[in-house]
Amino acid sequence: MPEWSDIRLSRLPLALKLALSCFLATLGLGYLVAGVNLYLTYHLTDGEPGLGVGDLRRTFYGNRENTKLASKIDGGSMAQFLPREGDREKILSWIQDGAAEDGYNATVKPILAENCVRCHNPEGLQRFTPLTSYEEVMVVTQIDRGEPPQLWARVAHTHIQSIGLIFLILAGVFSLTQWPEKLKAAVIVLPFATLLADFGLRYMIKYAPALVYGMAATGALMGLLFAVLILVPLHEMWLRKP
Ligand code: HEC
Repeated sequence: MPEWSDIRLSRLPLALKLALSCFLATLGLGYLVAGVNLYLTYHLTDGEPGLGVGDLRRTFYGNRENTKLASKIDGGSMAQFLPREGDREKILSWIQDGAAEDGYNATVKPILAENCVRCHNPEGLQRFTPLTSYEEVMVVTQIDRGEPPQLWARVAHTHIQSIGLIFLILAGVFSLTQWPEKLKAAVIVLPFATLLADFGLRYMIKYAPALVYGMAATGALMGLLFAVLILVPLHEMWLRKP
């Protein structure tokens, strides 16, 4: 019987190497798709091209000079859906005048019906806030305070638990590499730390918007560690001599 500490990736039987390699490749691709999702969800938030800290600040801290509706159509991600000249100004001045129900029925409702309701209706996907009645539209004429705590809680608990589980498996595989033990320990513990820091900072951005840089940094570090946990074992299994 070999000692547990003698087991090395490069000496595993072929079938087990294949199973681990398929698993690592699938997780890696899944992570890339998660990156695409992140980009598509947030890159238009601040109206500037590309995904930057501005998008993240606006998503998690909000735009506190403005209501949610105004910030979305005035240079935000929903501006693109108001092609006709003057519609944006009509909605903005309606909000500034106090967002009364009469004005809603006379001017705002037809504009939203024409341009927005195809996505923003109660039958649509959950994340498209419905905008079909005065009551529904009133919800987005409040000040934009960024991500609500209940949304944070929903995203954070599923992500922390599922990514934590993925890191556990990746760390188990990585523990069988030939890296020095101390370096291995760091690469195994750090992903868990960055995961918790990332979601912790995401919550605190509501109180201190500068923390958005910390969140972006921990997120980037987590992606880097993810790549190390996947690529190093693949390299050892197929390219490195025992
Ligand atoms: C093609 C589908 C689509 C159309 C058309 C669309 N939206 Fe959106 N809207 C979204 C998605 C997706 C989000 C969430 C992502 C985001 O905030 O950028 C969103 C978010 C919003 C939000 C933020 C809601 C919240 O609770 O945080 C507002 C306000 C909004 N849209 C207003 C509008 C207005 C006004 C129009 C019409 C001028 C419009 N949208 C047209 C898809 C759409």
